[in-house]
Amino acid sequence: MKARVTAHRDFSIARIDDRVYSAFLEHLGRAVYTGIHEPGHPTADANGMRGDVIGLCRDLNIPYVRYPGGNFVSAYNWEDGIGPRDSRPTRLDLAWHTSESNAVGVHEFIDWCDAVGTKPMLAINLGSRGLDEARNFVEYVNGPTGSYWGDLRKKNGRAAPFGVDLWCLGNEMDGPWQVGHKTAEEYGRLANETAKTLRAFDKSLGLIVCGSSNSDMKTYPEWERIVLEHTYDSVDFISLHMYFANRTGDTQTYLSLNHKLDRYISTVESTINLVKANKRSKHDVHISFDEWNVWYHSNAQDRAILDGNEGWPHAPRLLEDIYNFEDVLQVGCILNTFIRKSNVVRIAAIAQLVNVIAPIMTEPGGPAWRQTIYYPYYFASRHGRGRALNLAVDCPGYDSEHDDNVPFVDIAGVHDEEGGTATFFAINRHPTEALPLDLSLLGFGRAEVIDHQVMTHANLRAVNTLKDQTQVVPRKGTGAKVDGSTLSASLPAHSWQMIRVRLG
Ligand code: AHR
Repeated sequence: MKARVTAHRDFSIARIDDRVYSAFLEHLGRAVYTGIHEPGHPTADANGMRGDVIGLCRDLNIPYVRYPGGNFVSAYNWEDGIGPRDSRPTRLDLAWHTSESNAVGVHEFIDWCDAVGTKPMLAINLGSRGLDEARNFVEYVNGPTGSYWGDLRKKNGRAAPFGVDLWCLGNEMDGPWQVGHKTAEEYGRLANETAKTLRAFDKSLGLIVCGSSNSDMKTYPEWERIVLEHTYDSVDFISLHMYFANRTGDTQTYLSLNHKLDRYISTVESTINLVKANKRSKHDVHISFDEWNVWYHSNAQDRAILDGNEGWPHAPRLLEDIYNFEDVLQVGCILNTFIRKSNVVRIAAIAQLVNVIAPIMTEPGGPAWRQTIYYPYYFASRHGRGRALNLAVDCPGYDSEHDDNVPFVDIAGVHDEEGGTATFFAINRHPTEALPLDLSLLGFGRAEVIDHQVMTHANLRAVNTLKDQTQVVPRKGTGAKVDGSTLSASLPAHSWQMIRVRLG
């Protein structure tokens, strides 16, 4: 059994939009408080932001961070988070049954983005609030001084507009759990009127309308069609979300879930094209996959708080999934799917970034460390930039609940013309067999291997913890080589790899 793959320099899918390596940070659990913000922490900067977390985020080279929610945003008053800290109200957060101190608001978040070297992507509350609050928020953030909201921003310490260019029109408005949940018709009309109003302020804003919360929703994919019928020419992106879980302990089924993801993206792509044709529009709408990750490890322990049995705690431990080695393989497969779908997926955001279903964990007063899934995200973000190669893959497969003939090897290739490199990300899903990889590099000229990273572990359930932070880490691979125009390597059973070659 082997994987035979062909890459041709002139045969590519699309230029990968850097924004697919974005992330999401919600006012939820300890994502903000004791995650990014902990005044008094030994590494805290003058704004009370943890320097160790800023460092780990900087390393990830994250293009955008979506904020402040999530379900949280649907009952959030952005005005609570501006002005003098001691006059900001503490509110009950209805989405997560906790308290929100509002010590961090839009100013503190955008300053943190500057420190991290990333850009903010802000979500607007279209659940409990409407068009006027949306318009006021955007004017506050981006408007000129000499107007009411711009002057208020100046009074609060920031004269120059923040220049936020990506805005989400609500969050998961199809979900009955959402504060202010709407039908597709209701939401479509509101989103369109909001988009028109924001465009009257600034035509250049990138606007993201809510698609389905997941592809198991009863309203999917009609939701997308109806919402786009209302909004098509006023928005730029439709947002999709998907979380991955292995609830039955069946690794092979779990690792085939990205085939379901692939179909979800293709279906929404077709829906976009259908609406575009119906409207005879020249405008393009792309997908913003702005929440994705593994989420299930913490479900049981979160119940007490979510059911309201703990009162209204501030920044409790919530959604603190501890990721294992199996999740490395899953995250690798998800990122490969986004690379292969780069023609239509232009933004994607790992959900979330710190402490809450996150690649980065912190201990209050203590260290920050990398979860297992930090690594596939890190390598994809650093080296998965360029053109997505359209690979021909010939590899035996297996049948699963999510698809037939799921190839044992999931592979994506990226050609960075300016850097003169090609990078391949490969996951061997085979539980017991190492698979030889033969990869023909056609039209690239000379090539040599410059980096080979491997993640494998004897125990699929191995995790990194506060006490043992390096159980699951990448190591240098051996044996990958280019002979003539063939790159060959051996992919161990259940492994993630990145192989980079210098070209020319
Ligand atoms: O990321 C956790 C939650 O998942 C978000 O708040 C919500 O948008 C989604 O259901």
